[in-house]
Amino acid sequence: MSKIAFFSSQAYDKEYFKNANCQHIFEFFETPLEPKTVNLAKGFDGVCVFVNDHLDAEVIGLLKEAGIGLIALRCAGFNNVDLDAAKNHEIRVMRVPSYSPESVAEHTLAIIMTLARKTHKAYNRVREGNFSLVNLDGMLLHGKTMGVIGTGKIGRAFCQIALGLGMKVLANDKYPSEDLSGVNYVDLDELLYQSDVISLQCPLTPETHHLINKNTLGKMKKGCMLINTSRGKLIDTAAAIEALKIGQLGALGIDVYEEEEHLFFRDLSEQIIQDDHISRLIAFPNVLITAHQAFFTSESMQEIVKTTINNIDKFETKQISENDVNIELLT
Ligand code: NAI
Repeated sequence: MSKIAFFSSQAYDKEYFKNANCQHIFEFFETPLEPKTVNLAKGFDGVCVFVNDHLDAEVIGLLKEAGIGLIALRCAGFNNVDLDAAKNHEIRVMRVPSYSPESVAEHTLAIIMTLARKTHKAYNRVREGNFSLVNLDGMLLHGKTMGVIGTGKIGRAFCQIALGLGMKVLANDKYPSEDLSGVNYVDLDELLYQSDVISLQCPLTPETHHLINKNTLGKMKKGCMLINTSRGKLIDTAAAIEALKIGQLGALGIDVYEEEEHLFFRDLSEQIIQDDHISRLIAFPNVLITAHQAFFTSESMQEIVKTTINNIDKFETKQISENDVNIELLT
């Protein structure tokens, strides 16, 4: 039986984890994990964290002092964890590498379809008794070119969806898949030049930080639709805003945002938003923002709970798992 402190936990985390039958003791803190909240982890065996918890060297050092032996990520990406620091302090880092790639792929489709057919505007119009079609003319996807950057678990699921729509699919990946039929791998420049819609499905790494910047935006077809359901820092937001202002970007759909940790997963509806970039993005008629919800289906939550509990079991029984991020610590 391990005692685990959850950080950045939401009502739904409590609900799904409390309904899971397991021996471990869970305590749920709404606060993110940061230097001033690390004290809450004292007396626990491990912490369970999410995408916007910052586990830098300072926090990890303090976690070690608090007696923590496990960082259990309830997500796939681990760009927010200083793995060297975790290794130095002999703290095990485990994640949920794949819970439902299709959930993210389908949400990506939802954003694209909304922008392409302006259903968000139609919904509001009809509710107000406005049945006019003026300015609701959409964009046909069939026959157009989809560019997918990153063809791992999510990218590959999304490629199947795009092919199903009758789109030509171009892809770019450092390690192309040999068995992804119907998809043509091209270099990044060609993908940027040729695609009508570009979807980012690659992880955030030093190499992919601001992958979409003034230069790469300039290489896109004028009026291209750009979608990011991966990590906010893949896009230089200021450059995207400039590209939207001059029509170089025809539409932008994002489920992740460069500075989302100060905004997402909270109700700020009664506050003055201090982030001018997000305020500017919200004001564009051709921008759709969702607040990191692509993963969020009941199926994926059940999978996250199952894998996280399994990870804690493996930590407790000192068994190596394929979900270990710093596997070299154990071998
Ligand atoms: P994955 O590891 O299966 O696939 C990532 C792919 O990106 C790999 O094929 C890899 O070779 C490729 N890649 C890496 N660097 C690249 C580069 N410089 N250029 C082109 N391709 C590159 O990961 P998965 O499960 O498909 O997830 C992708 C990302 O989606 C995650 O890293 C995470 O950031 C994000 N994500 C977002 C969620 C959301 O709710 N919005 C939920 C889950 C994941």
